[in-house]
Amino acid sequence: MTEGTVQENKSPVRKRADEIKPYRCKNLIVVLENPMDIKNIGTVIRNVNALGVEKTYIVDSRKSLPDDWEEMRERKSLSKTSVSAIKWSFVKRFDSTEECLKHLENNRFTSVVTSPHVKGKRNEVLHEADYTMPRLAVWFGNESRGISDEAVASSEFCVSIPMFGMIESLNLGTTTGIVLYEITKQRREYQEKYKRANRGPSVK
Ligand SMILES: C[S@@+](CC[C@H](N)C(=O)[O-])C[C@H]1O[C@@H](n2cnc3c(N)ncnc32)[C@H](O)[C@@H]1O
Repeated sequence: MTEGTVQENKSPVRKRADEIKPYRCKNLIVVLENPMDIKNIGTVIRNVNALGVEKTYIVDSRKSLPDDWEEMRERKSLSKTSVSAIKWSFVKRFDSTEECLKHLENNRFTSVVTSPHVKGKRNEVLHEADYTMPRLAVWFGNESRGISDEAVASSEFCVSIPMFGMIESLNLGTTTGIVLYEITKQRREYQEKYKRANRGPSVK
């Protein structure tokens, strides 16, 4: 069988998966800390999938989500709000912020947190920071309480989207869309540059 025939025999889903593979942001994880609303989780997973983020971790201290993510995929509310992105996404749950931080630390991930407020030792406006560190976990806080002090204390810096209205914060879906657009853009550009440099000079 020739390579052309192999290509032709692929299903449309497989073809699409092959097309998007080079654009995925490796070693980029989104962490949701104790999200309350299942619709928000669905929206975030849709953003994660659409923007090419590798994985989603969920800190679920209330134990409201099943350990086995396959089971989660069957939940209608999630499948509907994520427009089936859940089928194509890697999602892992943790019992506590501490457990998640430990896992990330063991795997040499740098954490950055997001908040509409100034938090911790270093604060950055979204578009002014550099997100091209080798392994990055981006944390988003609970809908009403925001990000925990524990996550802030373990992070490299805190990112905010400047707010110019009367309200003090954006919702989770909107925030993840805006923040991940900037971060994935930077990381894709960096991955592309690195790939080109490794290819070496073109032979004349
Ligand atoms: C609805 S907000 C939480 C609001 C909460 N009252 C607080 O003080 O953070 C949910 C999450 O969205 C993210 N977020 C919302 N607005 C943001 C902004 N302007 N900049 C950065 N992150 C934001 C943060 O991760 C926040 O924890």
